[in-house]
Amino acid sequence: MAMSPLPLAGGVGGGQLPHSTAPLPSPNPLPGGEREYLPDSLIASDITAYLEQHQRKSLLRFITCGSVDDGKSTLIGRLLYDSRAIFADQLSALEADSKRVGTQGQNIDFALLVDGLAAEREQGITIDVAYRFFATEKRKFIVADTPGHEQYTRNMVTGASTADAAVILIDARKGVLTQTRRHSFLVHLLRLRHVVLALNKMDLVGYDQSVFDTIVADYRAFATAIGITDFTAIPISGFVGDNIASRSEATPWYAGPTLIEHLETIDVETDVAQARAFRLPVQWVNRPDLDFRGFSGLIASGSVKPGDAVRILPSGRTSTVGRIVTMDGDVPEAVAGQSVTLTLTDEVDCSRGDVIATADNPPQVADQFQATIVWMAETPLLPGRSYWLKLGTQTVAATVQAPRHAIDVNTLAELSVKTLALNDIGVAEVYTDRDLVFEPFSEGADLGGFILIDRATNATVAAGMLHFALRRAQNVHWQAIDITRAAHAAQKGQTPRLLWFTGLSGSGKSTIANLVEKKLYALGRHSFLLDGDNVRHGLNKDLGFTDADRVENIRRIGEVAKLMTDAGLIVLTAFISPFRAEREMVRAMLPEEFVEIFVDTPLAEAEARDVKGLYAKARAGKIANFTGISSAYEAPERPDIRIDTLRESPEAAAERIVEHIMGVWSPDL
Ligand code: ADX
Repeated sequence: MAMSPLPLAGGVGGGQLPHSTAPLPSPNPLPGGEREYLPDSLIASDITAYLEQHQRKSLLRFITCGSVDDGKSTLIGRLLYDSRAIFADQLSALEADSKRVGTQGQNIDFALLVDGLAAEREQGITIDVAYRFFATEKRKFIVADTPGHEQYTRNMVTGASTADAAVILIDARKGVLTQTRRHSFLVHLLRLRHVVLALNKMDLVGYDQSVFDTIVADYRAFATAIGITDFTAIPISGFVGDNIASRSEATPWYAGPTLIEHLETIDVETDVAQARAFRLPVQWVNRPDLDFRGFSGLIASGSVKPGDAVRILPSGRTSTVGRIVTMDGDVPEAVAGQSVTLTLTDEVDCSRGDVIATADNPPQVADQFQATIVWMAETPLLPGRSYWLKLGTQTVAATVQAPRHAIDVNTLAELSVKTLALNDIGVAEVYTDRDLVFEPFSEGADLGGFILIDRATNATVAAGMLHFALRRAQNVHWQAIDITRAAHAAQKGQTPRLLWFTGLSGSGKSTIANLVEKKLYALGRHSFLLDGDNVRHGLNKDLGFTDADRVENIRRIGEVAKLMTDAGLIVLTAFISPFRAEREMVRAMLPEEFVEIFVDTPLAEAEARDVKGLYAKARAGKIANFTGISSAYEAPERPDIRIDTLRESPEAAAERIVEHIMGVWSPDL
């Protein structure tokens, strides 16, 4: 079974991969059609024996990358056809279809075959990566068919995340294109160890060796520059079938293997993973009764035996492996690619997201990293915004700093950028809110590859590779302070709170917050009001009103508010804070203290009041990115307190807020 360098299988797209130790995936049912394999004597006579034979074969996962019209569909169709993994009735339908609509005269149009299979996939679910299965005498294959259009970096990353090899298609008439370079760069970034350069459509260039040699030399120059040291180039024609399953007589000058022969000999990731140190990312703690406590997960690398000394990360505690329990009972050894439950001989803390590793060679632990990030969403990266970061079984909150640079995939030049947009590849620092157990991506993809998820939409927005932990993070430690947060609060005789006012400019946030603070003061409470306009004169003087600056504005306020609650204060903040993601980030920082107060004044009303005359200016085009006019306001969905300023006076609203946090109604406030 191939390892999954990036935890994408469940995170993106939705292509469920057939499990290698499972029987052959059930074929897509044809509408009303019979399922029938092409004649294969073993299938016909003994299906169990046939399946067993398949189970023993190794599985190679690969992706095909190419530009539009490079002949990818035709090649995949050819592989499926030549390996006979298609159904007889589908084949006859295909023959009829190609005669009708195909572009290839009387011949079978293989592109139609693949597109036909695609159309049969579950309706209503968009899977941009299609996984196809076929087998030869020697090996089973899963090929991820990823669309070649510029926009589809994301699909390619998804497909590549579980692959051992990449077949990069080049149209022999066109040579190396931007897409070829982009795909090769990604292939290298994603550490696909085997690159096959398939020079397709050789029939259309008269099987000319000099065309082949020129393109290969051209590709080699680029490949070497990005670090691909080794690749296998094969002259093929997907349409005619040259050098796919059988050697072509049209290329006597080519002495190498056919595409299938080559794919049959590539070593798969599992072998490599087994040679590395033992790592088991814990998926869940299995505790059926008080007598048994096991830690379950898929072994990412290495092997394990009872009696092995292990270390649990991030805590660093050590223990010894007791039993290795599998679906088939206890086993004396387990290796990478197997799902197991380990018991340990000590009662050590270990939960989901922890990693059990060899005691003397454990992975690292850190919370600040440098990483390469491939941005895959329409909405650009917002530096400073909190995203979910998923790395193996670990999920943490993470922010990405402004990129150090982006990479131009054509020239490999480092570009100076402020953010990353769709398809951009860049290098940036990543900070996580908790320690991550990791390994540099170059050393082991399982603990080095991650994805970023938008907290509001749950969409996967980026894939990334961790390079190293920032040294400064390793040298900064928490200093123990004797006067704790609790001591500060106790001295003030109050429970710290964060009253977070949000709403449009001119909605009344500052007015109400000010009234609330006066009431708290009168009650002898210790408070502090952080107001948008005021903070922007000092601490946040450097920030404007772009989305990125607003994110940073709120991030800083969140941090300051956190310090103030540490000091035992009741903190009030009056900021537009237009984005849900940042408000949720602050809530996550202070879950007990955070009270979200939505000062709900409709835009028309705020604009009619226009206390500061800013709406008039914004309408006149004199202020850019004005909230409600040229910049979004994402209203809270479930605020703790909502104030409808059309119906409730500031005074009444302030009383209600104080009542909410004090938990009592004091009529004489
Ligand atoms: S936030 O969006 O980053 O939370 P913040 O509350 O700090 O904004 O600042 C908003 C105040 O700045 C507004 O009340 C208004 O007085 C002023 N302001 C100036 N330009 C803008 C703008 N483009 N959009 C919104 N408010 C602006």
